Order: sequence, then C-alpha cells, then structure tokens
Amino acid sequence: MEKEISSPGRLSASIAVPADKSISHRAAILNAIASGPAVVENFLAADDCLSTLTCLRSLGVEWSLKENADGGNTLAITGRGLAGLAESADVLDARNSGTTMRLLAGLLAGRPFLSILTGDESLRSRPMARIIQPLRQMGAHVRGRRDDTLAPLVIFGGRLRGIRYRSPVASAQVKSALLLAGLQAEGETLFEEPIQSRDHTERMLLAMGAVLKEEGRAVRLSPPNDLSPLNLRIPGDFSAAAFWLVAAALHPDADIALPGMGVNPTRTGLLDVLTQMGAQISITNERLEGAEPVADLRMRSSRLKGVIVEGAQVVRLIDEVPVLAVAAAMAEGRTIIREVAELRLKESDRVKLTIQELRRFGAHIDEEGDALVIDGAGRLTGATCDSHGDHRLAMALAVAGLVAEGKTTITAAEATNISYPGFWQDLEAATASAPGSR
Ligand code: S3P
Repeated sequence: MEKEISSPGRLSASIAVPADKSISHRAAILNAIASGPAVVENFLAADDCLSTLTCLRSLGVEWSLKENADGGNTLAITGRGLAGLAESADVLDARNSGTTMRLLAGLLAGRPFLSILTGDESLRSRPMARIIQPLRQMGAHVRGRRDDTLAPLVIFGGRLRGIRYRSPVASAQVKSALLLAGLQAEGETLFEEPIQSRDHTERMLLAMGAVLKEEGRAVRLSPPNDLSPLNLRIPGDFSAAAFWLVAAALHPDADIALPGMGVNPTRTGLLDVLTQMGAQISITNERLEGAEPVADLRMRSSRLKGVIVEGAQVVRLIDEVPVLAVAAAMAEGRTIIREVAELRLKESDRVKLTIQELRRFGAHIDEEGDALVIDGAGRLTGATCDSHGDHRLAMALAVAGLVAEGKTTITAAEATNISYPGFWQDLEAATASAPGSR
C-alpha cells in the first residue's frame, strides 16, 4: 500500500491513540498462566498482539476478542494455571513480533513438551542468543539456527533452576523471558541490567500476587504457587502518541490532545527530551490506572532546538528514535543521539534506514560510531520514501511528510498495522480542518 501526504494548513485533533503494545502482550501472556478468567479492556488488536493471542490459542488457551462501540477491544481470557499450557500441534509463528517470540520462549522453557517458535524474515534475523544463553543456564533445552543465535527456536522445556543473571543489554524482552522462566524455576531468579528497561512485566506480576522486588537495575523473583487473574484496562501507547507529539510540535499551526496515555517513567524519555528541546507539552490529570501511571497529554506548535541524548534517556525512548530524528532535522542546531547500537537490532536496522530515508527529505543526518548526528535545518522537502515494512519507520516518515514542503509518498505504508491499525484514519482526521493547504 502506498500513501500520499502533504502538509495540512492546520493539525488539530483529540486522538484516542491505540492501547499499549507491550502491556497488551503481557496482559495476554500472564493472564494465560493465571488461575482463572480475566477481562482486559482496551486490548491492542494489532498484528503483533494478535500473534501472541494466536500462539496462546495453539497452546490450549481459550480467549475471545470483542470490538466495542468506541473502537476499543475487550479480551476475555481464561488462565490455565502455571502448569496448564498444552503442547502445540504446530509450529508457533510470532510473525513480526520480538516480544511474542522472546517472552514465549521464556515461558515455554519451563513446560515439559516440545515447542518450535518461528517468525517472519525480519524476526528470523534478530538476535536470540540473548535469551537462549541465560535460559540454558537455568537448565532449559533451547536450540536456535546459526549456532543458537537465530530463530526458529526449538525448545524442549523442563525443570528449571533460578539463576542470578547480569544481562549485557538493557532489554525488557530478555528480562521478561527470564522472569517467565523464573516463575516456574526452583529457587529465586535475579536479573540485573546496565540500565533499567521498561518494567511492565514486574508491575503486572506484582498486581497478580507474585513475590518480586525491584531494586533499581535489578529485579528478584521468588516462584509463586500461582498467579491471580488480573482484570485491567490498558492505557494508550506512549510510543504511538510519540508520532503525534512530534508532528504537533513541528507543525506551525497545531494543537493535538492525547487523553489516557501511559506515562510509565521507563517509557517517557521522549517527553523529557522534547521539553529540553523547547516543546510546549502539557501533562494533566496524572493518575494510576491499575499498576500503570496514566495522564492526558497535549502538544502545541513549538520552536525546537538541538539537544544531546545519552545514557538512561536512550533506553527510555529507544522506540522513539526514528521520530525524534525527524524532530531533530526540523530543529535549530545539532542533535546527537548516543548509544543507539540496539536500534540496529529492531524490526529493521533503524539506524541505517532512518538515515537513508530521512536523507530523501533533505535531512542532514549521519552516524558516528553508535551515535546519530543530525544538523537541524528547520525544513524538510517532501519525498518518495519506503517503510521497509517497519511500522515505526512508516509512522516517522508520515510525520516528516506532515511537516515537509511538497508532496510525500510512502511505500509499504501498511506496516503501521503492526502496532497502530487506525494510524492513517487518525492522520486524516487530524488534517481534515485544512487538508493539504500549506
Ligand atoms: C519491548 C521491549 C523493547 C522495545 C520493543 C518492545 C517489550 O525491546 O524496543 O519494541 O515489549 O518488552 P528490547 O527488550 O529488545 O529492548
């Protein structure tokens, strides 16, 4: 699918951004091994989370998904208990979803049957040694293609023992895989990472009655007898809101409201960086919904200046780097985003492709080692560009198109369905008051 975009005269809307992808995966997986039924309101019915649900069904989990009048979805799921999953009759296909593959690998490492996990071409090229190695230390029988580094993964699950593991990378997927294995292990599991990654799994496990301690960059889990089912409402996905935050900040006549957004501090690095750049953000009605902090966000046209992003901030905004690069290209002065090596290992090599595609718009962007260096020129020129099947790149390019002079064409635009099925409709609504008139 191809999409054409021109910068509208005005950008204004109140957008009901879709539910958080990370929390939706976890709500399905953890409730699937809880003891009894649960109802999850505002579940993200996008391709990635549907991959998780389809795999869970193959493992014997019953669930149903209902679309509501407001466009949200309700998931009803019946947990089978910690030991209740059944061997799948077929290969489990995580498709494009790293979260599905890595979390399920941790879970299945403790189940006494054979599981084979595969994915699409992108996922089959992403690193899996980061979960295979520690799961093996726990006693799991896990093998992968290319000398145990790539999927498909073959898992013959069984008895596990808790370990103390120091992860070389800050990764919520690795952490969650080990915690899911740790739930079934003998003895305590301790996971430590260089910088704290998103902590949705820890928050949900605590709410389900697990004995877990967060100690800064470390988390300690004692295996529970069971998990209580958790009814919850999933907040809006901050990583989806990010595209509107940047679009509104950059457009000269913009006002976008984003009610009910998840603002877990392990996720909101972009809020801090945009504020530092000079953006006019308002954060109101801060509250806790279940285990997660939520707030209403609003962004208006702003003048941005370059900034240096490094350390913990990078981990707290890792999925937002492509759209932050668009902001930096339109800002005044130089932006440096350091320590982006992990970005090369996402759904695509986002360092390479962000540079390649934004250069088509005339952006001055380059890499220096593991840093992205962007010299803001205050303007972009519409271009023909390609998402390469990467959802976050597709939406970052759409934001570039919304603020560039002239027409932009994005190919493989359907990639947005991975995490944001209504993205193009929301874009139309936000531009409807003065479409294509700049
Ligand atoms: C995710 C963790 C992050 C993130 C990804 C979703 C999760 O990846 O980039 O989009 O849901 O746990 P890593 O765990 O590889 O850092």
